Amino acid sequence: MRYEIIGNLHIPKIGFGTWTIGGQERPDPASDERSLLALHSALELGYTHFDTAEWYAAGHAEELLGRAIRENGTPRRELFITSKVSPEHLEYDDVLRCCEASLHRLDMVYLDLYLIHWPSQSMKLDETFRALNRLVREGKVRHLGVSNFNLKLLKQAVAFCETPLLTNQVSYSIPDRTCVDNGVLEYCQQNDILLTAYTPVKRRNIKSNLVLKSIAQAHGVTREQVALAWLAMQPRVIAIPMSFNSQHQAENLHAADLVLSEDEMGRLG
Ligand SMILES: NC(=O)c1ccc[n+]([C@@H]2O[C@H](COP(=O)([O-])OP(=O)(O)OC[C@H]3O[C@@H](n4cnc5c(N)ncnc54)[C@H](OP(=O)(O)O)[C@@H]3O)[C@@H](O)[C@H]2O)c1
Repeated sequence: MRYEIIGNLHIPKIGFGTWTIGGQERPDPASDERSLLALHSALELGYTHFDTAEWYAAGHAEELLGRAIRENGTPRRELFITSKVSPEHLEYDDVLRCCEASLHRLDMVYLDLYLIHWPSQSMKLDETFRALNRLVREGKVRHLGVSNFNLKLLKQAVAFCETPLLTNQVSYSIPDRTCVDNGVLEYCQQNDILLTAYTPVKRRNIKSNLVLKSIAQAHGVTREQVALAWLAMQPRVIAIPMSFNSQHQAENLHAADLVLSEDEMGRLG
C-alpha cells in the first residue's frame, strides 16, 4: 500500500467509503447483515481509513462501522476514522453536539478527521471553525478538513483552522475533473492539503473509456483499478472507493500499488 505522508501522518492512498452502508438517507435495518459483511471484509483485507458521516443512513452507517470495528478487534490506533458534520449543523453548539453524537454512535473517544460535509449558504465559517478548533484542543478530533469546498471557501477554511487543514474531499475521477478546472487540486498540492477523491470509480463512462480498457488489459487488471491507480499516482491525492463486493474491495486496495508509466498517465490526461 502506498501512503501520503503529511507531517507524522501516513494516510493510505486507498480508503473505504461508507455511503449506502446501513441505508441511504434513512436507516435500512434490512440491509444490516450485508453492510456488516462488507465492513468485516474490508477490515480483514486491511483497509484502515474509513470515511463516514452523520448523514449516511442518518447515523446508522457510523453505528455499523463502530460495531464492525469492535467485533473485528482491530486496535483503534491502527485505524484512521473520518466523519463529517452536515451543512444544517454548522452553528457553534451544533458542531460540538454532532461530534459527540458521532463519537457515541461509533463508540470511540476521538475521530482522526472531522469534515464539514458541504458548505451552506447560511454558515458563518469563523463560528463553525471556532467549534471545530475547540474539538481539536479537547482531543475529540485529531485533524480537521472540509468537503465540497470551492477554492475561495477552501482558502477561508485554511485561514480559520488553527491546525493545518488536512483535506478537501471532493468528487474526482477520470470523467470528473472539476477540481482540476477550478484550481482546487493545484492549491491542495501546493499547500500540503490532501485531496480526498470521492466517487472515484462509480461513473458510467469508466466502463466505456477505451484508453482505460487498453491500459487495464496491458497490466492484467480491471478498468476500475486503473482509474484508482491514476488517482493514487498523483501527489497529495487519496481515494475512498466503496464496495459491498469483497473481490472489488481487494482489487481497489491493490490498485494503490499499481504503477502507471508516464506515458499511461499522459494518455489518461
Ligand atoms: N463528501 C461527499 O459529499 C461525498 C459524496 C459522495 C461519496 N462520498 C464518499 O466517497 C465514497 C465513495 O463514493 P461512492 O460510493 O459515491 O462511489 P464509488 O466508490 O466510486 O462507487 C461505488 C460503486 O462502484 C462499484 N465498485 C466499487 N469498486 C468496484 C470495482 N473494483 N469494480 C467494479 N465496481 C466497483 C460499487 O459496486 P459493488 O458494491 O458491486 O462493488 C458501487 O456500486 C462514499 O462511500 C462516501 O464515503 C463523499
